Amino acid sequence: RRPAIGRRAVLGVGGLGIAGAGTAAAAAAALRTSETRPARARTVPFHGRHQAGILHRRQAHVRLAAFDFGARTDRGRAAALLLRWSTAAERLTRGEPVGDELAPPGSRTTDTGAARGVGPASLTLTFGLGASFFDRVAMASARPEALAPLPAFPDDQLDPTRSGGDLFVQIAADDPLATVHALRTLQRLAHGEAKVVWTMTGFTSAPEGTSPGGAHRNLMGHLDGTANPDPADPAQRARIVVSDPAAPAWLSGGSYLVARRIRMLLDHWDTLPQAHRDQAIGRRTADGAPLTGGTERTPADLAAARPDGVPVIAANAHIRLAAPATTGGATMLRRGWSYHDGLRPDGTPDAGMLFLAWQSDPRTGFIPVQHRLARGDALSRYTVHEASALFAAPAGAARGTYIGQALLE
Ligand code: HEM
Repeated sequence: RRPAIGRRAVLGVGGLGIAGAGTAAAAAAALRTSETRPARARTVPFHGRHQAGILHRRQAHVRLAAFDFGARTDRGRAAALLLRWSTAAERLTRGEPVGDELAPPGSRTTDTGAARGVGPASLTLTFGLGASFFDRVAMASARPEALAPLPAFPDDQLDPTRSGGDLFVQIAADDPLATVHALRTLQRLAHGEAKVVWTMTGFTSAPEGTSPGGAHRNLMGHLDGTANPDPADPAQRARIVVSDPAAPAWLSGGSYLVARRIRMLLDHWDTLPQAHRDQAIGRRTADGAPLTGGTERTPADLAAARPDGVPVIAANAHIRLAAPATTGGATMLRRGWSYHDGLRPDGTPDAGMLFLAWQSDPRTGFIPVQHRLARGDALSRYTVHEASALFAAPAGAARGTYIGQALLE
């Protein structure tokens, strides 16, 4: 009998999501090694059944980037790019330099060593393919149905220049320089093949989270990530990563990522009385407990009502409308990062959440939940969805293979 894998081993410092294959012994070993090393020296293995950076705890810094292919791309060139990127990602996540021998002909930039000595700081690189990827490499028939464009939601104010993309990478680490360096390296290796079309930068409060379960405070002040599915539970993990036996090999163990840049109207939000802010979510800001009582980990009692019949958790509270009980069981793993990119021309903060949700199928994850929220969730009055993207993250790569190989070879 395999010993149970503790939640902390998975979400804490090392563990299942990292190696993916995840034996309890490996998870425990990863935890042990990680804990004895300074944060800067910690590593998260690139190889595994699932890509690193999905089931792993959130690191302190993230950089998201989407790339579009140039005019000359085809299946072989895309495969060569993903091979270069995978090779580089493996080296970077071990804290090793990526030499010029990996760069394509004509690339004139080089690694200046700007990040020497700073990493890897638990660096993870997680790659995704957009719907347009399959058109660009003339493989439209291989595009999964679940990768169809997301529907338009009421009140969306999406900026097309910061949405979508042929290729995507989430670069996360506990050191910001490690993330910039990794992005510069990927750009260098994409020379002549693909160009960055947008980037976004986010952060969390601290590497270990601000609650024992790994939830982080977002810029509205709430603990965020409490009611996430538990990757250590096989049934719940199957709602995060693709586990359908009929899925193509390249996707089996992969995941779908919905990325939304959600600006918060903080100057308005911050004027609200505390009770109103708690009601909008349905949880106490102070400790994350549901308004029906208990602690952060106590399940919310959506049926509870006051003596006058008014529900304790309001009819339009965020957690009521988003809960699986309300949305027909829709499930996703939310791993958001905060962002603050200065002030907008009107003087209000350009700040909010880089909302990232990983799921085995967006049609039974993000889409039904967002349909419910967009119809009158109390939080929506204080948020604006400004950019959107959907990517299929292929399965993790085994040693000696590259991300997406089963699709492109
Ligand atoms: C729960 C904040 C957007 C889906 C929560 C919680 C907070 C929160 C504080 C309660 C703690 C927790 O369980 O993590 C926010 C903020 C958002 C946002 C500030 C925008 C800036 C979204 C979006 C979706 C979503 C776009 C999906 C379409 C959920 C789900 C839950 C949740 C599924 C758990 C509900 C439950 O089962 O109790 N959110 N959220 N959230 N949120 Fe959001």
